Order: sequence, then C-alpha cells, then structure tokens
Amino acid sequence: MKTIPPLLVALAFAAALPVVSAAQEVAPLRGEVGIDELNEAPPIVRLRSGRAFPRAYRQQPPLIPHRIAGYQIDLRVNKCLSCHDWPNNVEEGAPKISETHYVDRNGRPLDRVARTRWFCTQCHVPQTNAPSLVKNAFKNAKDLR
Ligand code: HEC
Ligand code: HEC
Repeated sequence: MKTIPPLLVALAFAAALPVVSAAQEVAPLRGEVGIDELNEAPPIVRLRSGRAFPRAYRQQPPLIPHRIAGYQIDLRVNKCLSCHDWPNNVEEGAPKISETHYVDRNGRPLDRVARTRWFCTQCHVPQTNAPSLVKNAFKNAKDLR
C-alpha cells in the first residue's frame, strides 16, 4: 500500500479546522446540556386531529388529521391501505388515495399503490400543537398572492 506524504496529511487537517470551529457555535436543540447529563423532558404535546387540514399550497401532500401510532408500514404490510385503498375507503368513509399514487415511474397505470408511493409517511404527516423548534417565516401560498 502507498503511504500518504506527511505534508498532505497536514494540509488535510488544516482544511478541516475551520469546519470544526464553526460546528462549535451551533446551539444544540436539546439545550446546553452535557452529553452525559439528562436534559429536561420536552413538554407533552397533543395530536391535532379531527377535520382535514387546509393545504398551504396547491401541490402539498395533505396532512394526516388522525393518530397513526402503531400503523405498520413495511415491505409487505401497509396499514394505511386498509382504510384508504379502494374499495376499503368506501366502507371506512376515508378519502380514497389519490389516483396519482397508482402510476409507476414510467407513467403506466397500476391496480395497486405504486412502490414509489408505498411509504406514505415520507410525504403525509400528522400534526401536534408543539411549538416550532426553530423560528421560520413560512407563509401559505395564498397569502403571497
Ligand atoms: C382506521 C382507518 C384509517 C387508517 C388505518 C388510516 N386512515 Fe387516514 N383517514 C381516515 C379517515 C376516516 C380520514 C378522514 C378524516 C376526516 O377528514 O374527517 C382520514 C384522513 C387522512 C388524510 C387526509 C386526506 C385529506 O384530503 O385531507 C390523510 C393524508 C391520511 N388519512 C393518511 C393516512 C396515512 C398515511 C395512514 C397510515 C399511516 C392512514 N391515513 C391510516 C381513516 C384512516
Ligand atoms: C411521494 C410523496 C407521497 C407519498 C409517498 C404518498 N403520497 Fe399521498 N399524496 C401526495 C400528494 C402530493 C398528494 C396531493 C396531490 C395528489 O393528489 O397527487 C397526495 C394525496 C393523497 C390523498 C388525498 C386524495 C384526495 O383526493 O384528496 C390521500 C388520501 C393520500 N395521498 C394517501 C396516501 C397514502 C395512504 C399513501 C401511502 C400508501 C400515500 N398517500 C403516499 C404525496 C404522497
């Protein structure tokens, strides 16, 4: 194996130095608490459920207005389908999964949810009343018109 010249090693360390000092200035979300200490437990938050949430912009994946704790989604099982896939949705009174979810990556229509849409919670998420962790200036698309 070829050995790395010492000068190159020194240069690599010098290049890494500014990155290290920048990282130290970041305020951690868990507060200024040592790694080996326990931080204060975060406040208990309530899930916001009930009626469908308004969408913030046209293409937004709708937010989930109900609990999903314990709903399994893995390689074979997808609990969401038991209510949202046709024809189950009729019996459950749940909104039917969008037709866009039954098209594969080549635009071919399918009779089953496309694999590209299998992991629902990649795009659809429930909401809680937790305060934002970081400040942001997000505005709904309709308020920007
Ligand atoms: C036990 C049945 C049931 C299961 C299981 C279920 N849902 Fe639902 N879901 C509903 C019902 C009923 C509604 C309609 C709520 C309302 O608008 O009043 C709904 C609403 C939604 C909506 C809102 C749609 C819109 O247009 O606003 C999304 C998104 C959603 N569910 C996603 C999911 C995902 C993702 C899962 C799996 C993690 C899941 N649901 C599992 C019954 C279910
Ligand atoms: C890659 C992102 C993505 C994934 C993964 C995904 N969705 Fe969606 N979903 C969307 C978007 C974006 C919309 C709104 C636009 C549309 O209809 O395509 C939507 C719409 C919906 C709607 C509303 C349909 C309507 O007509 O109001 C339901 C219900 C839904 N999805 C359920 C699911 C379920 C259940 C899964 C998992 C099997 C899932 N989605 C996976 C992005 C996604």
